[in-house]
Amino acid sequence: MKAQRVSLWLMAAMFFLCSMRARGLRRCLISMDIHHIEEAFQEIKKTIQAKDTFQNVTILSTSETLHSIKPLDVCCMTKNLLAFYVDKVFKDHRELNPQILRKISSIANSFLYMQKALQQCQEQMQCHCRDEATNATRIIHDNYDQLEVRSAAIKSLGELDVFLAWIDKNHQGTSAA
Ligand SMILES: *[C@@H]1O[C@H](CO)[C@@H](O)[C@H](O)[C@H]1NC(C)=O
Ligand SMILES: *[C@@H]1O[C@H](CO)[C@@H](O)[C@H](O)[C@H]1NC(C)=O
Repeated sequence: MKAQRVSLWLMAAMFFLCSMRARGLRRCLISMDIHHIEEAFQEIKKTIQAKDTFQNVTILSTSETLHSIKPLDVCCMTKNLLAFYVDKVFKDHRELNPQILRKISSIANSFLYMQKALQQCQEQMQCHCRDEATNATRIIHDNYDQLEVRSAAIKSLGELDVFLAWIDKNHQGTSAA
């Protein structure tokens, strides 16, 4: 009887710890409300994608990259892709149209904010990078480096919807709680 009570207590403690961890994760991802980013992107999507002259190649959408990412690698992949956009794409892109530039800057700011939020999450939970995520990230950087830098930047901007849809799918339900 006593042993049973102890194991019940242990189970309750385990359950509590797991739910704390899940809640911590959820809280981290709440700050990633990407719908306003999607809205900002929708307004410039056509203009950006029209400037992309290499419709036959892709940077993010190859089957072996984003779509094969396992749940365990989502945190790392999100972190890597945010860094990809912040450190490469937004820096390499030259925009002359002030209205478009304003939208891109707003998206870039949101990405910086998400990076900060993820950094805080990392202190509380694991955001471990396995080979799978590292390799997928390398493929994306290789795709980028194969194009001339301005074409690569515009193409990556045009593929923002792929990245945003992927975040949406993989962090699904987290912002509702
Ligand atoms: C894609 O098209 C461009 C020209 O439109 C061409 O130069 C390039 O070689 C093509 N790339 C591939 C991978 O087919
Ligand atoms: C990652 O890439 C390395 C080097 O190309 C390869 O040896 C390894 O098997 C890959 N790992 C996974 C999990 O794909």
